[in-house]
Amino acid sequence: EMNPQERAFQERIDAGEKIEPKDWMPEAYRKNLIRQIGQHAHSEIVGQLPEGNWITRAPTLERKAILLAKVQDEAGHGLYLYCAAETLGISRDELFEQLHSGKMKYSSIFNYPTLTWADMGAVGWLVDGAAIMNQVPLQRTSFGPYSRAMIRICKEESFHQRQGFDIMMKMANGTEAQKRMAQDALNRFWFPALMMFGPSDKDSVHSAQSMAWKIKMNTNDELRQKFVDQTVPQAEYLGLTVPDENLVWNEEKGGYDFSEPDWNEFFDVISGNGPCNTERLETRKNAWEDGAWVREAMQAHAEKRAARAKA
Ligand code: ACO
Repeated sequence: EMNPQERAFQERIDAGEKIEPKDWMPEAYRKNLIRQIGQHAHSEIVGQLPEGNWITRAPTLERKAILLAKVQDEAGHGLYLYCAAETLGISRDELFEQLHSGKMKYSSIFNYPTLTWADMGAVGWLVDGAAIMNQVPLQRTSFGPYSRAMIRICKEESFHQRQGFDIMMKMANGTEAQKRMAQDALNRFWFPALMMFGPSDKDSVHSAQSMAWKIKMNTNDELRQKFVDQTVPQAEYLGLTVPDENLVWNEEKGGYDFSEPDWNEFFDVISGNGPCNTERLETRKNAWEDGAWVREAMQAHAEKRAARAKA
């Protein structure tokens, strides 16, 4: 049922060629990429909020400088990704409008609160760890601008993951109270981190087409399994317990068996009813409105300069 143009497009993808913004592409490819890259960009931007919450309360000047740099990196990631989405013919204003109206999503994980300093460790270790697991394969994604953005983002993301693990090591080897905080952070973030990979494969509506187009390189369950296999030994190294009674090494498959997250909770969170959804969106909308005068001033300045150049 593919027409010759679509077939030629699929052949380019199968041959590992990159698709560039001015190349012909099926409308559904364009739309799906805008959806995924846009959501990814929004995740980076909204993702600044849970950690931004701790910048003023970091325990030392050094920790504060590191956290500040990390949160700034996330703003940068959001900006590369918005640029990549813009090459597909959507404006940044439209993307923001769709985030603010709830039409576009951002990652479920950022709708959970960060209650203690140990959460900064857990977020870096688990959330950025899950993000890397998902983003390393996306360096090979078929759309050129997305793929190139991913290469740079992954380099910075590995620093983020290390800084989180470093906080966890300090806490897990600290006083009894610090160790309890580290365990509590792991308890609260474990299942939400597993949800970052998306619903189980049988409920993933986009996977089949996205994988055929190499918009996505692995299924949700494949990456979730890899994440568990990588993270459990790290938890053991920290002397912490993964909060899952069903977690057990399965020799035959060469990976861990583990409990599924509570998918009702996941669908609740992505439909706007997680613990912090309202607060996160309010914060972003306020930031957009509070910044209106800057956008207006820049516009007025650009118009004045253009008029002066003409005169
Ligand atoms: N949070 C919010 N929504 C999600 C999540 C999640 N963790 N996982 C899936 N969804 C949504 C999908 O967007 C889709 O809804 P939509 O049709 O309204 O867009 C629905 O659930 C069904 O899921 P899938 O069909 O499996 O969706 P998809 O194929 O897009 O897979 C995934 C989801 C794995 C997140 C994919 O989009 C992806 O790899 N995105 C790029 C990475 C990314 O966005 N990372 C952001 C978090 S990491 C960070 O920024 C630090």
